[in-house]
Amino acid sequence: MNKIIRVGCVGLGLRGADLFCNRLCAVEGTKPVAVCDTDAKKVENCIKELEKRGYTDVQGFTDYDAFLNSDVEAVLVATSYLSHADLAARAMDAGKHCLCEIPNITSVEQGEMLTKAVRRNPGKFMVAENTCYWAHINAYKQMYEQGILGDVVYAESDYLHPDPAIWHPEEEPPLTWRAYRPGIHYLTHNLGPLLYILNDTVVEASGFIPDINPIEKAHPAPPNGLGIFKTKKGVVIKIFIGYGVCHIEGSWHNFALYGSKGCVQTARGADITNGTVGVFSHTPYLQGFVHVPVKPDYPGAGKDGHNGADLRMMQDFVRCIREDKEPALGIDFGLSIALPGILADISSHEHGKTMRMPDFA
Ligand SMILES: NC(=O)c1ccc[n+]([C@@H]2O[C@H](COP(=O)([O-])OP(=O)(O)OC[C@H]3O[C@@H](n4cnc5c(N)ncnc54)[C@H](O)[C@@H]3O)[C@@H](O)[C@H]2O)c1
Repeated sequence: MNKIIRVGCVGLGLRGADLFCNRLCAVEGTKPVAVCDTDAKKVENCIKELEKRGYTDVQGFTDYDAFLNSDVEAVLVATSYLSHADLAARAMDAGKHCLCEIPNITSVEQGEMLTKAVRRNPGKFMVAENTCYWAHINAYKQMYEQGILGDVVYAESDYLHPDPAIWHPEEEPPLTWRAYRPGIHYLTHNLGPLLYILNDTVVEASGFIPDINPIEKAHPAPPNGLGIFKTKKGVVIKIFIGYGVCHIEGSWHNFALYGSKGCVQTARGADITNGTVGVFSHTPYLQGFVHVPVKPDYPGAGKDGHNGADLRMMQDFVRCIREDKEPALGIDFGLSIALPGILADISSHEHGKTMRMPDFA
């Protein structure tokens, strides 16, 4: 139980370096031992950052096999997402534990390959879906489990994250990894919390992609997309991903769950700072929607690391390793939140045809 976990990270870009240095290494009982990136400068910068925090003997690698041959025990995979499945599978086969950034996979074939790699190895595998650790998501989950919402019939979410090209069309856009994948592939931050609240999984998916791409130069793959899903419990879920639409600057995730006894939804527009609005049939004399003061932040956590969610996710990963417990956000959950976006994209090329979720058991 008091064992120190030797942690490392592959992919030291904007997300990986911050998540590793400021969150994973901040969890009690961890020790950073190795970092890896194909870009030697990023390795050097990360080692300097770790030295500032008092870690003076961290090894740096540009070769992933050499990194896996070090004494690292638990690997954070935070490269751009095309390589997640391959690097995570290789970490598992090398006998490591793995926390893999979202989405874990970019194709159905990768889903099968990664599932097999996780199942044939004893290491812990967890998907880094930090949005499942937001305070309001856990409040909604408790309400659902306590029966306050009754049977949830329909849920929806959207991810409105306008690309800078929407506001500055005259500028030459910097093209990142994100630009080459359909936006709908990146629905895990939305579908993940809903399936986690409902303790459910998707069985059918269909998708629709608008013909208009307002930011084609900045985002050649369709930046906007809609997915409609049916779950095992029979709930219908609708998700819209909007990178190429006008909205408030910055990023915003809306959630809504409509049940037979109550409804909760994240407040929109001028109401946003009020967190949540809801209506509950079990509350006598309630007149319409009421403000419920829960939002992503944990009291006192502020905006740090996605409102405190990143650190909680890291603590959970380390706890699962130390206590030899299966992560709640394991491979089945990882696939259940990534595959539906891939299927919705395929469906959109077939006039919205309903696609069945594959079973890799
Ligand atoms: N959960 C969240 O809130 C959240 C937020 C942002 C990004 N992300 C995820 O994190 C990932 C990284 O995003 P980013 O913005 O840091 O990207 P980035 O492009 O800034 O960084 C990716 C890094 O990975 C390195 N890399 C790529 N392939 C590699 C390989 N095979 N071996 C070693 N290094 C390799 C690149 O050199 C780069 O330094 C993305 O997949 C994204 O989905 C998650």
